[in-house]
Amino acid sequence: MIAPVAADLLPRSAQHNPVRLLRLIQGITSHLVVGVIGLIVIGGTTRVMEAGLACPDWPLCYGSLLPGKQMNLQVFLEWFHRLDAFLVGLALLALNVIVVLRRSFLPHWLPWCTMTALFLVAFQGALGALTVTSLLASMSVTAHLGTALVLLLHLGATDQALRCHRQTHDPGDSPQPFPPRLPSWWWPLPLTVIVVLLAQCLVGALMASQWAADRCLDWGDSCYLLTNHRLLAYPVLLGLLFMAIGAAFLPGSHRMLKSFSFLAAAFGWGQVLIGRFNLTVHLGIPWITVTHQFIAALLVALLGAAIGRTLLMTSNAWPDQGGVDFG
Ligand code: HEM
Repeated sequence: MIAPVAADLLPRSAQHNPVRLLRLIQGITSHLVVGVIGLIVIGGTTRVMEAGLACPDWPLCYGSLLPGKQMNLQVFLEWFHRLDAFLVGLALLALNVIVVLRRSFLPHWLPWCTMTALFLVAFQGALGALTVTSLLASMSVTAHLGTALVLLLHLGATDQALRCHRQTHDPGDSPQPFPPRLPSWWWPLPLTVIVVLLAQCLVGALMASQWAADRCLDWGDSCYLLTNHRLLAYPVLLGLLFMAIGAAFLPGSHRMLKSFSFLAAAFGWGQVLIGRFNLTVHLGIPWITVTHQFIAALLVALLGAAIGRTLLMTSNAWPDQGGVDFG
């Protein structure tokens, strides 16, 4: 019943035109990437404003969809966080219906990618419920941020792989020769950096969910988490630096990969400076902590984008015909 209705909802131009269909789907994945970054930032603000339990029940807030009577800044943050999560879930559901119905026009890997994203978002929702029912237990808060980052990584990779795939089918208004297959020395770089980066984010989340940095600065207690977080910043920075140097040696037509790598290296340095500044001000300025989390999300999204391009452009699915002009 729902399938034909969803298919009819597609713009007429996208229903039988694979290029328009790809554009539509990629429009949705790009918006999802922005939506999940927003979700992570609002989640960080909710934690910093100590609003994690502002809605004591789940999935409703004070038993209603819009808790007008109880509304204040903290309730608004927690309520808005849930609303954004709901919209991301709904968009992913719609995306899956479109992709499954039109799979014969789409790359064979896409349904797997969208279904994995849907599974991750359902798991994330369950973890969100657990953070409320466990009264913000450190492990569930950390797992909640960790899953959000994995979802962002996955969506960033899917979005860019789709963009690359479209490039080989849709030359657009100004046809360009598409880039050659990536050299085999490149792929270990972004894959290694993402492992260290995610580990760093998890240590950061463990620290934040236990207020360990505050406790260390105030009473010299639980300092091992802060020490490990500071130490892990070195391999992250080194990895980002190697990736940027590697990107400089890629053929000039891999412009997007180069931009992602250079941007990630710059954000990595910015992240360290903000982290250090946050300690100097004894975590006293909430928006500095939120900015630290925002840049962590941007780094994960950039690495995801680089990994999506890398996986497609090193695979056999990528036509190794650098220099072919689609015009
Ligand atoms: C490139 C490396 C870094 C990444 C990717 C990173 C990432 C993160 C993440 C994801 C969090 C959890 C945020 C939250 O849940 O609110 C965090 C927390 C934190 N980070 Fe980093 N971080 C990095 C480097 C640093 C450095 C070098 C310092 C300090 C010298 C630092 C200081 C802190 C502090 C103090 C917190 C805890 C904030 C709180 O308790 O509210 N970070 N970091």
